[in-house]
Amino acid sequence: MPSLVVVGTQWGDEGKGKIVDQLAERADLVVRFQGGANAGHTIYVGEEKFVFHLLPSGILHEKCIVAIGNGVVLDPEILMDEINTLEDHGFSVSPENLKISPLAHVVMPYHKRLDELQEMRKSEGKVGTTKRGIGPCYEDKMARIGIRVMDLIDEERLSKRLRYALELKNDLITKIYGGEPFTYDELFEEYADYGRRLDDFVYDVSYLINDFLDNNKKVLFEGAQATCLDIDFGTYPFVTSSSTTIGGAITGSGVAPKRLEEILGIVKAYTTRVGEGMFPTELTGEIGQRIRDIAGEYGASTGRPRRCGWLDLLMLKYAVRINGITSIALTRLDVLDSFETINAATGYTLEGAEIEEFSPFILSLGELKPVFRTFKGWQKGITEVTTYEDLPEEARTYIAFIEEYLNVPVSIVSVGPRRDQTIIRPGYTLL
Ligand code: GDP
Ligand code: IMO
Ligand code: MG
Repeated sequence: MPSLVVVGTQWGDEGKGKIVDQLAERADLVVRFQGGANAGHTIYVGEEKFVFHLLPSGILHEKCIVAIGNGVVLDPEILMDEINTLEDHGFSVSPENLKISPLAHVVMPYHKRLDELQEMRKSEGKVGTTKRGIGPCYEDKMARIGIRVMDLIDEERLSKRLRYALELKNDLITKIYGGEPFTYDELFEEYADYGRRLDDFVYDVSYLINDFLDNNKKVLFEGAQATCLDIDFGTYPFVTSSSTTIGGAITGSGVAPKRLEEILGIVKAYTTRVGEGMFPTELTGEIGQRIRDIAGEYGASTGRPRRCGWLDLLMLKYAVRINGITSIALTRLDVLDSFETINAATGYTLEGAEIEEFSPFILSLGELKPVFRTFKGWQKGITEVTTYEDLPEEARTYIAFIEEYLNVPVSIVSVGPRRDQTIIRPGYTLL
């Protein structure tokens, strides 16, 4: 199929980067369409580890072009770092293989400072953001005072836009939050320089995607964050500031919905969350710590320990509905190898009432107690298994239940971080 969208189904870090890298082997173009450097997508090539915050995860494949769509908020400092690191590892990043939409908004230093100051001010109600300036940058986009990539590469426009925005931002930083202001000259010099370095990469990404699809080339859309972090459909206010679900792929890249064919939902075999907010299947005791230790569940962007819990099938059913997921990649199944029993939530109770549907509204009503279905663990290592049939019967039972509950097939099972630890089930070409 010529187009495939990868979306996270939980609270992020499901292994999107690994799966995108895997599928990008067959892709002609990989597009990021939302979020920014709050994302941390990890890829292993042999023993070598890469974590991408802004560059699409197809960049490691020589024949693959990667694009940053208009829906992304781009931090040039982090992008330049990523490009330099890759070049140090012998990969080439040039205007030939990286295209950046002129319409993407730029994360400025004042966005990052405001992200911190706003979180400090909120104290109890804080979101636990990545402090990468994501929320404040999207705020400016909506308020129509943002700076776009097209402004960055035109000194006159940059000067005008920056003067206007900075006056407002400095007022906010100093008068409301008591923080340190920025000077126009230092920001202008630094960002005009980024503009000069990025100029050759600027390209009409929407045109490129549609042209590729017209010519039957394969386009992969790489979501960042996940369904329950979506600004509309997530567990608001503990969410990120972009549309992480399928709608974001459309508005964040300039492609029509009917051109999106396969929607691949990435599902971690249990659940994690970084930052604050509700989490019905969270395991705060020994079992949660055991998952965290086995899996090394620490944030790829911030290093924070991830909160761990059992799989929440109601939440996944919701993600299937919102995104129109056509198949699932089940990742990190090997993390459960040593467990005697494994739980998955198939319902909640709220003050004695039974609940069978997930919704952010229901989650806000009070403390939901999960109703678990318990599965027998397989208690053997699966990291070297290469075919679905060779997975232990107990693991296949767990997968079959997920498929039946969601009425969606599991097309990929991931049993380790490496490329060769990926089982693509027969009959699924995906891209
Ligand atoms: P993303 O943000 O969705 O791309 O996910 P992250 O990269 O933040 O976190 C996923 C982590 O799980 C990374 O460290 C991956 O290397 C790792 N990973 C991905 N798939 C598997 C798997 O099947 N098994 C194991 N053990 N680790 C995996
Ligand atoms: P990937 O793409 C996990 C979380 C933050 C915080 C909330 C808001 O690697 O799955 P923000 O900085 O976006 O304003 O923070 O969203 N968050 C993520 N959690 N994975 C991510 O990305 C995340 N990006 C943001 O921890 O709770
Ligand atoms: Mg991540």
